[in-house]
Amino acid sequence: MSSRILAGYQTSEGQTAKIAECIADTLRDRGHDVDVHDVEPAPSGYGAMVVGDSIHAVKHCRPMIRYISEKVGALNAKPSALFQVCLASANPDDEHTVSAHAATST
Ligand SMILES: Cc1cc2nc3c(=O)[nH]c(=O)nc-3n(C[C@H](O)[C@H](O)[C@H](O)COP(=O)(O)O)c2cc1C
Repeated sequence: MSSRILAGYQTSEGQTAKIAECIADTLRDRGHDVDVHDVEPAPSGYGAMVVGDSIHAVKHCRPMIRYISEKVGALNAKPSALFQVCLASANPDDEHTVSAHAATST
């Protein structure tokens, strides 16, 4: 199994790509080999995956939904994590937390 880690992202305005780069830098500081890639076209062959996208109109983006649908077997079999970027996640009060969590069901 590859020991490389994917820091995957989908972005509309560029913020999620920057966050994926920060995640990759942190993992590299801890001694891991990390590639940062857009999830479209879907990268494969990684030993672990951290992937994220931004929320628009309370929904994850289509390319990320496609990537997760296509790779669900690998994501469940290997260490994996999903992060989301949105304005609601930046505010910890109940109303915004409910809104941020709503996107995870899409
Ligand atoms: C058209 C549009 C719709 C958005 N919809 C939501 C939303 O439903 N919930 C939310 O919390 N943030 C929403 N946002 C904020 C974005 O998720 C936020 O700006 C994010 O940082 C964008 O990341 P990106 O540059 O990687 O695409 C929206 C932004 C835009 C421009």
